[in-house]
Formats: sequence, C-alpha cells, structure tokens
Amino acid sequence: MRCGWSGAHEHARCHQIWTHCRAATLAAGATTPYGLIEDAALVVQGDTLAWVGARADLPANLRQRCTAEHDAGGALVTPGLIDCHTHLVYGGNRAHEFELRLQGASYEEIAQSGGGIVSTVQATRAASAGELQAASGQRLQRLMGEGVTTIEIKSGYGLSLEHERKCLQVARSLGATHAVDVRTTFLGAHAVPPEFAGQTDAYVDAVLQMLPTLHAEGLVDAVDGFCERIAFSPAQIERVFAAAKGLGLPVKLHAEQLSDSGGAQLAARFDALSCDHLEWLSDAGAQAMAQAGTVAVLLPGAFYFLRETKLPPIALLRQHGVPMAISTDSNPGSSPCTSLLLMLNMACTLFRLTPEEALAGVTRHAAKALGLRDRGQLLAGLRADFVLWNVQHPAELAYALGANPHSQTIFQGQVL
Ligand code: NIG
Ligand code: FE
Repeated sequence: MRCGWSGAHEHARCHQIWTHCRAATLAAGATTPYGLIEDAALVVQGDTLAWVGARADLPANLRQRCTAEHDAGGALVTPGLIDCHTHLVYGGNRAHEFELRLQGASYEEIAQSGGGIVSTVQATRAASAGELQAASGQRLQRLMGEGVTTIEIKSGYGLSLEHERKCLQVARSLGATHAVDVRTTFLGAHAVPPEFAGQTDAYVDAVLQMLPTLHAEGLVDAVDGFCERIAFSPAQIERVFAAAKGLGLPVKLHAEQLSDSGGAQLAARFDALSCDHLEWLSDAGAQAMAQAGTVAVLLPGAFYFLRETKLPPIALLRQHGVPMAISTDSNPGSSPCTSLLLMLNMACTLFRLTPEEALAGVTRHAAKALGLRDRGQLLAGLRADFVLWNVQHPAELAYALGANPHSQTIFQGQVL
C-alpha cells in the first residue's frame, strides 16, 4: 500500500516503519546522551509517531501492521529542526550597512541615523506580496534543505496595519505552499517608523490598534517586541504585552541584546515563552526567567555578525536551569543567515555550548520557545517530523562548517 496525502482515510490508518538507523531522540530525561538509541525503529501512523525505540523491543503485532517499510541506510535520525526566531519576510538587503560597519560605524549608530531596521521597512513597504514571497521563499528553502520542519516568522518590517498584514499574510502563505509549519509572531514594536519619528508613545498606540485586527484575521500566533534604548522602553513594551494577554496571545521579547534594560524580568511577569538575545542578561533576569519557565533563545549569528564581545551568561542560565534554544534570527541587519546548522557550530564555538545542548536548542527547547508540546523530540504521540542525516554521531551536526549532511526530511509522516 502507498501512503500519501491523497485518500486521507488510508493515510490515517497506514503504519510506516523506518529501520536501519540510530535515533537521537532528544527526549527530556533520556538516560543516554542525545537520547541516542542504537539500531532504532520508528513507526509512524498517519502524521504521528506511533512508536520509537530499539528495534529489538518493537512489539510483534505493531511490526505486522506496518505496510510501508523504509530502510534508513544507517542514517542518524533526529527530530525535525525548529528555527524559533526569524525575521524571514523582508524586502531588499543591507549589504551597504555591512560596508559601513566595516568602515567603523556601529549597528546602533546606523540605526540612530535613520538606517538599520527603518531602511528595511522602506524596502519592505515598497515590495509587493509576490516579491516578498519569492525572496523569503528562497530563504525558507535553504533552511528546509537543512532539515527545518517548523519555523517562526516575525513581522516587524511593515510597521503599519497595511504592511504588517502583508508580511504576516506572506508568512502564512509560505506555510501553505511549503512542507513546513509556520508560526507567526506580530512584532509591531520593532522600531518606530519614519511617520512617527519622535513620537514613540503615539506609535505604541498605533501598535495597540493593529494587534486586535491582525489577530482577528488569524494572522498572529504570538507577540514580540524590541526592548532596547534604540527601540522601546520596558513601560512601552508592557502596554503591548498587556494587550497581547488581553487577547490570550503568548508573548516573547528581544531582551538585553545591546544593554540591560530589565526586559527579561518584564517578560517573565507576563509568562513569556522566550527572551531572545540576552547578552546583557543579569542574575535577577535569569532568576525571573527560570521561575516563569521562559526559554532563553540564543542567537549566535547576530552576536557574530555584529562582532559583539559580551557573551550571553551561559553559566548563569545553566545554574538557574533556564532551557536554552538556538536560532538563526534570520534578518537583513544583524544576522543575514539561512543555516541553522551553522548556528549549532557557532553556539558551540562562540558560546561554548555542548553539541548536545546546541541540538536540544534547535529541537526540544526551540519547541518550548514556541509553546509547542507536540514536537521537538522523537517520542510516541508527537508529530512525525524527523530528519535523516548522513552522519555517524549527532556531534557531527554541530562540528562541521558549511557541510550539509542532510539526507531526507519526513514532514507529518510524509517523505519529502
Ligand atoms: O533580532 N534586534 C532587533 N531585531 C533584529 C534585527 C533587525 C534588523 O537589524 O533588521 C534582531 O537582531
Ligand atoms: Fe530578532
């Protein structure tokens, strides 16, 4: 029998099995590093993992029910990768600012002189939905080519109802046209657009008006903000978070990237899913995140590209037991990156994470940073999103620079 998207009934009943593989399950509380299972078997029913374990332990009656067999050829299997923080939808690029920074200008100086995020806002507003879809679709395909099966995409380069809507619609449409799950985040509080220059509070009022409309249109899964001296104050972010909570939407925050403004404590008070960047995170901020169960999303691409020198406090996060996720932060200004595997390497070389922590950061902890409990680990009952890799050991995924050992992606039980 063939299992396919067509014939939903057949597909739902069909059991598929993958054998001849090692599985890095990344399961919470696993007793082996990476949750590694030698000579593993994975059984998929429809779009869900029905059984994961050592092949020798597979119940005979379940084995008999498997009508489609896949020889993984000795591959390593991991959960589908999750890129939990991206600004994928934008117009133009900022290669010129890259040149300016190489001549000595800083990211903050460029932003303050009208460049930075605002220059991407101009290019994004000028682009049609079709143009944005084509440009971001290419970036998405590069990420998917490295095993990404779930991606978060933020707005934040439109900064008006019309253009934030356009960007969120493009994000939704990318999800509808690619075999990847897209989660959208409204980042209206990313920068103050030119028409509100010098009137930040009035722009926050405008953000508070956009949010319920975009939410009612089904375009918003979460709400984010940029809490920084070149962006929004904690008091201004608090107004946005209060509105999000009023709509029942989860929040996350770009916090303590360039300075410590106490954003992490603020976000924790709103039970934020994640605080992201965190180079300047304080002890009090880490404690607040630990208590609230907020994930620390580390973005080594932005740290590298902006040539930051202040490292996020990894020891502090470990000490307080704050889960760490890793993401590309794919965006034109601080991280023009479309390789999550490269981020694994940078998380290890720059931030000194272990390869196991890094891999958990793009699977189990990235799922938590998006509030998703149905993925990020190879466990029965979770979504059948997983990746076959041409490597022996999971550490190889973080070790190599510019290699792509991706072999195959299975998305919701379907071989891509
Ligand atoms: O995550 N920090 C704010 N936002 C982005 C950068 C956006 C830009 O420079 O275009 C970030 O680094
Ligand atoms: Fe970001």
